Amino acid sequence: MAVNDIPPVTRRHVLLAGGAAGLLLRPSTGRGASAPPASAARPVLLHIAPATVELAPGITRRVLAYNGQVPGPVLRLPEGQTARIRVTNGSDAPELVHWHGVDVGSIPDGAAEEGSATIAPGGTLDYSFVPTHAGTRWYHTHTMAMMDFSRALYGGQFGFLIVEPRRDPGRHDREVLLAVHHWDASLPDVPKSPEYCAMPRYRYATFNGRLMQAAEPVRVRQGERVLFRFLNASATETVSLTLPGHVFTVVALDGNPVASPAPVSVITLGVAERVDAIVHMNRPGRWVLGPTDRASLAAGLGRVIEYAGSSGSPVWTAPPASDWDYALFGGAAAPPVEDLRLDGVFPMLFERRLAPDGMEGWTINGRPFAELPPLHVRAGGRYLFRWTNLSGCAHPLHLHRHNFTVLRRGMRRIGPIEKDTVQIGRFDTIDALFTADNPGDTLFHCHHQMHMDYGFMQMIRYV
Ligand code: C2O
Ligand code: CU
Repeated sequence: MAVNDIPPVTRRHVLLAGGAAGLLLRPSTGRGASAPPASAARPVLLHIAPATVELAPGITRRVLAYNGQVPGPVLRLPEGQTARIRVTNGSDAPELVHWHGVDVGSIPDGAAEEGSATIAPGGTLDYSFVPTHAGTRWYHTHTMAMMDFSRALYGGQFGFLIVEPRRDPGRHDREVLLAVHHWDASLPDVPKSPEYCAMPRYRYATFNGRLMQAAEPVRVRQGERVLFRFLNASATETVSLTLPGHVFTVVALDGNPVASPAPVSVITLGVAERVDAIVHMNRPGRWVLGPTDRASLAAGLGRVIEYAGSSGSPVWTAPPASDWDYALFGGAAAPPVEDLRLDGVFPMLFERRLAPDGMEGWTINGRPFAELPPLHVRAGGRYLFRWTNLSGCAHPLHLHRHNFTVLRRGMRRIGPIEKDTVQIGRFDTIDALFTADNPGDTLFHCHHQMHMDYGFMQMIRYV
């Protein structure tokens, strides 16, 4: 897409709100915020190598990262055009880059289970695909960590991937990208009770790799409409965010526009989920855009939102109660699933079953990934996933290379919500409709790093 294909928007700015060094401010022309767009002649370059991330002065961490920064560069790929991304692996282990939420083929998808190539240490791989749905996607490593909390998504390998629409709806003046991440995982204990879920604890939590107290404020002006693109790039933690004095109008979930944009005071993001929300800036002052709980605030998660001309200490207040519910955004409830014409129904039960040695273990229909046959689908078929969570914690369920449509949560039918990752509550159920429209092996898994590493995955195979 040439620059002149996009109507110029003079007042609009894009901000990847980081620290002083991570600050990227540019007039929006639809071009990459920090990585130039791919072209046949010149692919986007991503280099994987150890890098030192400064969470705050004096608090540094050595992690694997893309292009020496956390998050990696923002990739802005024009909808409908071939993207070329050249990845070089400067680490000492094989790597894969997964384009989360993009409808790519199995080979460039970056999942070893689907047959994607890995990149050997010192090696290079060219990824090429055509993103066809505009929206907030992301990219990340698809390696395993097991109990090594320096690896995979516990480290620094993630970044925004924005598929730029052919036509820019232009409903906002400023764009702010915020990726949540947690640092310094440890695992206190692994109790054997099936109702319990082992949850890593973390010392620090950041937006864009920077603690709030060490980050530049996000500067806004009264009257602006700011589009926030939130990404939860944590390995295992769910987050809830609030901006005192303001409401978020949610316009997209996982990058997919919602049928019925609606105002909320709290946004909850399971691991790997994205939310696009517009905030009308109409309460001058200095505010903390941050978590709803004090512990995460103390761990450093948050950004000061500063109106031009305002001063004083930033204000954070705990919201009354979370109003977060996917059903708010789906419009009218879908017809009962019994009325749908389907080519198959896949009941899938999720349970924590520890290995005999007490090691973490997750199963689908009683079996871990290694013992689980693929689900068979045929191209063009429509299927219903009937998910049941028999464990005491929520799970971000993710399907590679496709979206699915959430139609029911628990006992309640909801308006259709297009997702690539959906959070299933503890002991809850979800029905989701899936159209098999992108042939090739397709991985389904819980995006909680520990759960996917310990068996919570299944293959979907086109036959
Ligand atoms: Cu973000 Cu297997 O995915
Ligand atoms: Cu899980």
